[in-house]
Amino acid sequence: MDIFEQKILEAKSMAELDGVRIEFFGKKGSVTQRFAELKNLEGEAKTELAKELSSLKAKFETLFAEKKTILQNQELAQALLSEKIDTSLFFTQAKRSVGHPINYTKDRIIEYFRNLDYDLCIGPLVEDDFHNFEALNLPVYHPARDMQDTFYFKDSMLLRTHTSPVQIRTMLAQKPPIKMICPGATFRRDYDLTHTPMFHQVEGLVVDCGSSANFANLKFTLENFLQYLFGDVKVRFRSSFFPFTEPSAEVDISCNFCGGSGCRVCSHTGWLEVLGCGVVDSRVFEAVGYEGVSGYAFGMGIERLAMLTCGVNDLRSFFETDLRVLEQF
Ligand code: DAH
Repeated sequence: MDIFEQKILEAKSMAELDGVRIEFFGKKGSVTQRFAELKNLEGEAKTELAKELSSLKAKFETLFAEKKTILQNQELAQALLSEKIDTSLFFTQAKRSVGHPINYTKDRIIEYFRNLDYDLCIGPLVEDDFHNFEALNLPVYHPARDMQDTFYFKDSMLLRTHTSPVQIRTMLAQKPPIKMICPGATFRRDYDLTHTPMFHQVEGLVVDCGSSANFANLKFTLENFLQYLFGDVKVRFRSSFFPFTEPSAEVDISCNFCGGSGCRVCSHTGWLEVLGCGVVDSRVFEAVGYEGVSGYAFGMGIERLAMLTCGVNDLRSFFETDLRVLEQF
């Protein structure tokens, strides 16, 4: 057996096999050096040696190629084994999805009021006329009932147009005192830059057996809440009207885009309207059979708050499920 035959057999890797090649046929390899001897020989001796060397070379090349194939197959099999991926395995570091700005804003609002011990209530999306309108002092002739605004089903059932009916449901189901918030989806026939047919609100209601649930407490609660949500902003209460509260107010914050000096977002007023509120109207308490109580309520649109905190000016981009948009938040 030629000396390299044994070494080729014993090579355990491509690197080792290449080592054998260099040892015998590299620039300074032992067989290469014997090729150099040819020039010192003549005649038959030269022919003999040339024959011997070229058969050695041919033999080496065959053995080398065979072993190379064997080693490469072995290396491939090993790589397949060690790099195998079991896609059915649970992976704890899977990429997490980005939170949606509306959920994120909703969670922040809930967190604030939960820390103040407000109960979290939910109500049905399909409501009846009594809970959505009548008990909230929105009589039959009120324009909010118009087909233009409300999605109606048969039998005066409808998709709730606000979260305020949950106030009624909570008061009918519980005795005062009450401290609750209700986040949820609401529906109106509207579609433009700042309105979508489905949107979200958070309702708040506080009812006290004495007279302590008054406007002063409402103002204190909302001022602190808005500063938690928007940082160091000014808050102002503007007298307004809602059928279910008296007195009522709309609440503005100083524009967090221009700091109050006036810009496109705040229509150059320096102020942004963010929610509605008021002292619960006595007719609402009458509708649920409450006597000798005081209360205040507030309601806000989550989309509007999310647009203002995330700097988005087209509400519809929240609903287009384009991950490139969502990934920016
Ligand atoms: N329900 C009102 C709306 O959808 C928002 C609202 C205003 C709720 C004043 C309240 C409130 O509880 O007191 O526009």
